[in-house]
Amino acid sequence: MRSTMGLSWKWTALLSLLSALLCLIGPALAVKEHDFKKCAQAGFCKRNRDYADKAASQSSTWISPYQVALDSPSLKDGQIQAVILKTINAAGEKVRLPVTISFLQSGVARVTIDEERRQNKDIELRHGSVARKERYNEAAKWSIVGGLEPDLKAEIVHQDDSQINVQYGLEGKFEAVIKLSPFAIDFRRDGVSHIKFNERGLFNFEHWRPKVERPEGEENPEEESTWWDETFGGSTDTKPRGPESVALDISFHGYEHVYGIPEHTGPLSLKQTRGGDGNYDEPYRMYNADVFEYILDSPMTLYGSIPFMQAHRKDSSVGLLWLNAADTWVDIIKTKGSSNPLSLNAEAPSSTQTHWISEAGIFDVFVFLGPTPQDISKKYGELTGTTAMPQEFALGYHQCRWNYISEDDVKDVDRRFDKWQIPYDVIWLDIEYTDEIKYFTFDPHSFTDPISIGKQLDSHGRKLVVIIDPHIKRVDNYPINEQLQSLDLAVHDKDGKIYEGDCWPGLSNWIDCFNPKAREWWKTLYKYENFNGTMENTFIWNDMNEPSVFHGPETTMPKDNLHFDDWEHRDVHNLNGMTYHHSTFEALKSRKKGEFRRPFVLTRAFFSGSQRFGAMWTGDNLADWGHLQTSITMLINQGISGFPFSGADVAGFFGDPESELITRWYQTAAFYPFFRAHAHIDTRRREPYLLGDPYTAIATAALRLRYSLLPSWYTTFFYANRDGSPILRPMFWTHPSSEGGLAIDDQFFLGSTGLLVKPIAEKDKYSTDIWIPDDEVYYDYFTYKTVKTEQGKHVTLDAPIDRIPMLIRGGHIITRRDIPRRSSALMRFDDYTLVISVSKNNEAEGELYVDDGDSYDYLEGQYIYRKFTLTPNVLSSTDAEGRDTKKIKPGKWLKAMRDVHVQKIIVVGGTPDVWNRKEVQVQSEGRTWSANVDYHAADGAYYAVINRVGVRVGENWSIKLD
Ligand code: GLC
Repeated sequence: MRSTMGLSWKWTALLSLLSALLCLIGPALAVKEHDFKKCAQAGFCKRNRDYADKAASQSSTWISPYQVALDSPSLKDGQIQAVILKTINAAGEKVRLPVTISFLQSGVARVTIDEERRQNKDIELRHGSVARKERYNEAAKWSIVGGLEPDLKAEIVHQDDSQINVQYGLEGKFEAVIKLSPFAIDFRRDGVSHIKFNERGLFNFEHWRPKVERPEGEENPEEESTWWDETFGGSTDTKPRGPESVALDISFHGYEHVYGIPEHTGPLSLKQTRGGDGNYDEPYRMYNADVFEYILDSPMTLYGSIPFMQAHRKDSSVGLLWLNAADTWVDIIKTKGSSNPLSLNAEAPSSTQTHWISEAGIFDVFVFLGPTPQDISKKYGELTGTTAMPQEFALGYHQCRWNYISEDDVKDVDRRFDKWQIPYDVIWLDIEYTDEIKYFTFDPHSFTDPISIGKQLDSHGRKLVVIIDPHIKRVDNYPINEQLQSLDLAVHDKDGKIYEGDCWPGLSNWIDCFNPKAREWWKTLYKYENFNGTMENTFIWNDMNEPSVFHGPETTMPKDNLHFDDWEHRDVHNLNGMTYHHSTFEALKSRKKGEFRRPFVLTRAFFSGSQRFGAMWTGDNLADWGHLQTSITMLINQGISGFPFSGADVAGFFGDPESELITRWYQTAAFYPFFRAHAHIDTRRREPYLLGDPYTAIATAALRLRYSLLPSWYTTFFYANRDGSPILRPMFWTHPSSEGGLAIDDQFFLGSTGLLVKPIAEKDKYSTDIWIPDDEVYYDYFTYKTVKTEQGKHVTLDAPIDRIPMLIRGGHIITRRDIPRRSSALMRFDDYTLVISVSKNNEAEGELYVDDGDSYDYLEGQYIYRKFTLTPNVLSSTDAEGRDTKKIKPGKWLKAMRDVHVQKIIVVGGTPDVWNRKEVQVQSEGRTWSANVDYHAADGAYYAVINRVGVRVGENWSIKLD
């Protein structure tokens, strides 16, 4: 008896321990996949996939029922306007779909297709809905900011009864062959097909139709089970307009690799989605959602969407923007060999066939024909805008957690960073700083004097970021909610009442940033005099803006909710987060009359164009090695998809990471464009000074490395701002001719610095193999040793726990600031060090862009932009734009920069007969002086250090090397 009792007691204890453990671990391991739809559970996705299957099964007889009306097309001002006729039944009844094909001066082509009957609002809505009758046609209004000038030289070079050939683009190298029956377009470059629309006949434009109520027992000849109301997870979507999806197959001919359509956790080179070994069996989905505890290697949707895809093969890149903000799925399949079954050429390159499916809206697609990845990034940036020039501090290190619980806590963390001499720029406050999650307030007990935080931070140039989410607590005596209601600025439900849902504060309403009045109102809330406790060094974090609605369908709003102008939420869902982010960005610009400073706003949800408003992060990741690895790929993908200012929570949001993982995460994140530590409220504290020996020192070294390279980071952001280029550049982007690198997604170049980094993202791993894309010389960044490399092969680098595997490619000149300080602001007027990696041909070049990092004065010429050039005979610095800088009237910042010098130059590699010398002669501003040189040659490292160079960074200078 006793022993049985003893046993049962032990079992109970063991079981309760187990269940306690499961509670701890369980939720941290898996997403609740059943909370999110699979394609088969989304009527429109299922219908279009079924349509694709039907087309494939009838491939020889399948005819797409869309024809361009014969007599209508004509080309005027770079545009063809025509009508596509969709035959909808055996009787030959047709639906009219006006189509516009625009050829743009940039060489981009745009195709838009609408539905005439809906343009004319000639439809009836069900359930007494007041939603708009048109198809949503305003995505471009939010996303597109330029690049729409027509190509007036585009011309029809051939036309007959079956097709129209239009030549367009730079030097007329591009051609669109528009097939009339069935409607299809073949986009060619230099006579070769690259992108084809409707090649497989999957174009599908679900036209409006009335719901026919049939007597019981009588069936619709068509399968309409997914046309009307749909229920998922207990919520019913009323779909007042019935089925209205748009879908198209788009083939990339000769391209095995396609990239883009973030945000997903799979590899950079996108996987096939129709099953098979190693493939997904679900399409990639884009429907911004708060996917709690998301899983890796999945096509599931995440927090943000950029419907942009790029395809690359050796020496050729093409791309596509599917500008649609509704729920969107993309199937991908790849064909081996020639797509022509009769072709004898089995070696013909592989092709990728994609199938894009959106629930609603017009069809609006932009086609980019490259040919280089640089062209694609640039043109995409011209259309949707480029990365905003950041606040310089935003490139430093950000310390966040949910939550720093009080004023004293924040000040204490700040002091401890100083005590440990760890640099950081920004400390963050998560939701608990508020008074019961009423945004624009501070908790009256724990944050009695928030200005005192701001002041303490400001005394060493640091900033505060506070969170403001879009759900506004529905509670009495909260003026912000009262205003939201009384001014009618919130999102409405399908019946026109102010929508109510659940989020952090409990019952809430959501600001509708599609409403111009709401955006104006939002601005007033941020004025310093209205948002008490904030000051000039307070910036903002926007979270939950997918929007996240607890207990809502798929954790978001019902699709039949109504936004400003009566557009359904269904139409605008993926834009929602961007409009909110944009509103906050504008609000920060108008905090005070006469203050012209760049905002800093972090967002979780995003869409094409969000790059114009700040940074994003990858949401609630896990403190595990897989998430660390995946973060690298995700951020690379963000970069090539036009939104490079991106980061992931260091060292994982959920869970308590081991010291090795934290350390490796800091080393990796030293190369995240946005570098922020963050952790869930239930996790243990893990600020870098808490890590203990040797991890604190190693994390600090990673942070110092980041800070020393800030001038190079800032220059890289300047390029992103100027031409849309990625910050973390994958191999295919920097070396488009090197075939072996097309699928590599765990190493990258930092901008054009030549720094090639492959962070360690695996446990117990102390060496790594870096793939070398060319036959240039490479040096180890830390030892300056020349590394023996071979083009297209891997080289093994040691990576003990204190080492980030990192090479410098020969031929680059980068800028650093080497004095460790507490924050980037304190480094603003420090002297520079140049690091020159000499190429095989004894050459190198690089640039430095610098401005005040805070205002918009750079738009008035208040910046320094230098080009450094090393030839075998001379090292020199000139204005990168050939400006006569004497003519620029210097403002305060530029004047202060007069005293900032290039003080040290480290020349790595090069030949001893040039660099093994005692001194060099420096010439600048009409004077010549000598600077001494220390030459080192040991253990395979050859480098020279020129000390006390003493040239003003903004002036021309040269060093002759005879
Ligand atoms: C969301 C965010 C997370 C934040 C939390 C509380 O989960 O993704 O970063 O800490 O909300 O605001």
